[in-house]
Amino acid sequence: MGPAGKAYGLDMTDEMLDLARRNAREAGVANAEFLKGEMEAMPLPDGSADVMISNCVVNLSPDKDAVFREAYRVLRPGGRIAIADIVVRGQMPRLLQRSLELWAGCLAGALQEDEYRSKLAAAGFGEIDIEVTREYTASDAEGAGLGGLLQRYGKRGEETLGFVSAMVRARKPVLSRSPERSEGAVEGPVNG
Ligand SMILES: C[S@@+](CC[C@H](N)C(=O)[O-])C[C@H]1O[C@@H](n2cnc3c(N)ncnc32)[C@H](O)[C@@H]1O
Repeated sequence: MGPAGKAYGLDMTDEMLDLARRNAREAGVANAEFLKGEMEAMPLPDGSADVMISNCVVNLSPDKDAVFREAYRVLRPGGRIAIADIVVRGQMPRLLQRSLELWAGCLAGALQEDEYRSKLAAAGFGEIDIEVTREYTASDAEGAGLGGLLQRYGKRGEETLGFVSAMVRARKPVLSRSPERSEGAVEGPVNG
């Protein structure tokens, strides 16, 4: 973002907003504005953003369909999303999954890769790309103090655990179709 651009930061907690505002002040960034709100109902107008980015947030939402619908609404036609997220591949034993959630926080509610694609497509997005940036192994979890639990499930060393870090990219088509939604489609765009 150049000096002529504008960035909005969105979070639902006062603590994170205070931190973000302090960081922006200390960095001398004047063209960023921080908004209190939820990603399932973004406090931004339709078609108001070129790009939406997030890191380890979407997986925390209990209603990802609403998040993607909102991203689509707030983006301008042709606008893009780039979401760093945890994506589940394969099956993990429930107990193991719950414990890793404690370790990795961002695992809570992570989607399967196929679900991610279909939810984005249902919201209206195209050019969907999920790039795996890291695959977690038993060694990673052992390093987080979960060795005992992993042994119980016979997972060790470089054995993979069924979830990865990924960069999820997609674009709102320039010529929008009505996304699949129950209550009236919003034509037009966007977020920050
Ligand atoms: C794991 S942290 C994100 C860290 C940050 N993006 C980073 O890269 O350091 C998750 C953040 O998402 C926020 N959050 C969680 N659910 C949210 C929601 N439904 N709407 C808006 N913010 C939410 C939390 O308040 C928290 O600040």
